[in-house]
Amino acid sequence: MRVNFTVNGRPQEADDVWEGESLLYVLRERMGLPGSKNACEQGECGSCTVRLDGVPVCACLVAAGQAEGRDVVTVEGLADYAKQRAEHGGCGTGACGTPGGTSLQDAQQWQAKPLDSQTGEGGELSPIQQAFIDAGAVQCGFCTPGLLVAADEMLERNPSPSDADIREALSGNLCRCTGYEKIMDAVRLAAARQSETAPSQGA
Ligand code: FES
Ligand code: FES
Repeated sequence: MRVNFTVNGRPQEADDVWEGESLLYVLRERMGLPGSKNACEQGECGSCTVRLDGVPVCACLVAAGQAEGRDVVTVEGLADYAKQRAEHGGCGTGACGTPGGTSLQDAQQWQAKPLDSQTGEGGELSPIQQAFIDAGAVQCGFCTPGLLVAADEMLERNPSPSDADIREALSGNLCRCTGYEKIMDAVRLAAARQSETAPSQGA
């Protein structure tokens, strides 16, 4: 079957999709977007987290056919998504009329560009990605894409999260390296920076 959907704000189609194929497989193997990681394939680790119509989901548990006509945001499109949201107050997907999005080619190349954590040179980063680097929340990095997508979504709907809110939002994302404290620091840092740059209420 053919699946038509939006990936990172741009219309895409995947052909010859098998009925049992997962959204994760389509993204990684057909679209060439390996940012969403494949670890457990059972919905247990969260390393494959993407947004489907704005909601964080485990892409390994979503049948590709379920994505028909829907908006998917992956870690490769997170920087542009966050930029659109900050500049236009839009949803970041283009579905609300806000222009933008990340082309498939740019998304594929973003993944290929090595990021220099000292100079920041490489792929453009969203605030949550920068916070993870600044807080030292990335070790092997395998869990990081899923954590970034989940944390970004939480900060979108809850700009001032408590530690309990952060733990709850990231409870489906397992990390085998960091012990989670640096990850908590990163999300707190992103929230603090977001509140510094957010327009004040009633202004
Ligand atoms: S690979 Fe999808 S939850 Fe682990
Ligand atoms: S940084 Fe290695 S699993 Fe999280």
